[in-house]
Amino acid sequence: MTNRGVGIGMKITGMGAALPEKVITNEDLTAFMDTSDEWIRERTGISQRRIGGTTSGLAIEAGQKALDESGVDPLEIELLIVATTTPDYIMPATAPAVAHELGLDCGAFDVAAVCSGFAYAITVAQGYLAQGLTKILVIGADTMERITDYTDRGTGILFANGAGAAVVEADETGEGQILGWDLGANGKYVHILYSEHDDTMVMDGKEVFRQAVKVMRQSTMKTLEMAGLTVDDVDIIVPHQANVRIVESAWKKLGFSMDKTLMVLNETGNTSAASIPLCLDRGLSQDRIKTGDNVLMLGFGAGMTWASVLLRWNGITTHTAGF
Ligand code: UT7
Repeated sequence: MTNRGVGIGMKITGMGAALPEKVITNEDLTAFMDTSDEWIRERTGISQRRIGGTTSGLAIEAGQKALDESGVDPLEIELLIVATTTPDYIMPATAPAVAHELGLDCGAFDVAAVCSGFAYAITVAQGYLAQGLTKILVIGADTMERITDYTDRGTGILFANGAGAAVVEADETGEGQILGWDLGANGKYVHILYSEHDDTMVMDGKEVFRQAVKVMRQSTMKTLEMAGLTVDDVDIIVPHQANVRIVESAWKKLGFSMDKTLMVLNETGNTSAASIPLCLDRGLSQDRIKTGDNVLMLGFGAGMTWASVLLRWNGITTHTAGF
């Protein structure tokens, strides 16, 4: 396979995270549904989640932190991409309002690929870097609370709100770059996870679980093949945070270790497009990402959609403003 788009230098020079203040513990959920803290922790890995806020509000907070860390002047940002599946409005997209509040003066649009959204958006940013842009703000933000029925035992235990942002810059040295990537979608599985207008999510949890494990493995193999690398060459893995058992099952098949894996699910629940940048934010706060590391971002979600991106890291390695 040819290295499509590979060779375009990319580095992340600022990260930001935002979570609403209101914490819902597993224990709190027992007031609405027949469940227990023990069941949720054992079957999902989640202890608590956050609700409240708006998609644009959380995106602005995360975006501001990422800009502050990068030191990039808002007027230097040439494009804003907001990955979200819960925009404030059906129209317009969320990105223009976010751009306005952050003081940007550039094109701004949303990418809707549900929980794969941030990884999708990083590949979109890569395409614009290839066209000559040098500074792009990429945000994953969702308020899944708005489409979640917290009395439903399948979805109510999982979904929550949050946002994560990254300032993505061209890397003239080429040291930082996407080594391989893969995007996928299979509309045959629309019915296993969807939400109609003005309604809450419907999910076939078992089937989503099965498909997620499958596509995570397949997508990783495609990305590694493009990069000409193996599983052992991956230093840090940043999987979508849906259920720790999904990650463990996929890793068993792939041969990845949990030691190399960033997880925040325990505290955040499934924040959809925000989950990968929240994990990156946490990994940087814990000094887990070093220059030259091969960082694999791996998303899957409703659609079904999936995306994997292998980024050789040449961006920030310290991060003090983590959540
Ligand atoms: O971004 C993608 C988003 N979605 C996902 O990633 C979802 C993927 N799927 C999952 O994470 C899991 O399928 C769930 C967490 C949703 C469900 O876990 P599971 O291990 O597949 O449970 P299950 O549906 O097989 O149910 C097992 C048992 C059943 O009881 P019986 O029939 O064995 O007596 C359920 O009634 O657990 C019961 N159960 C619960 N018990 C307490 C199901 N949900 C709950 C609950 N609390 N919340």
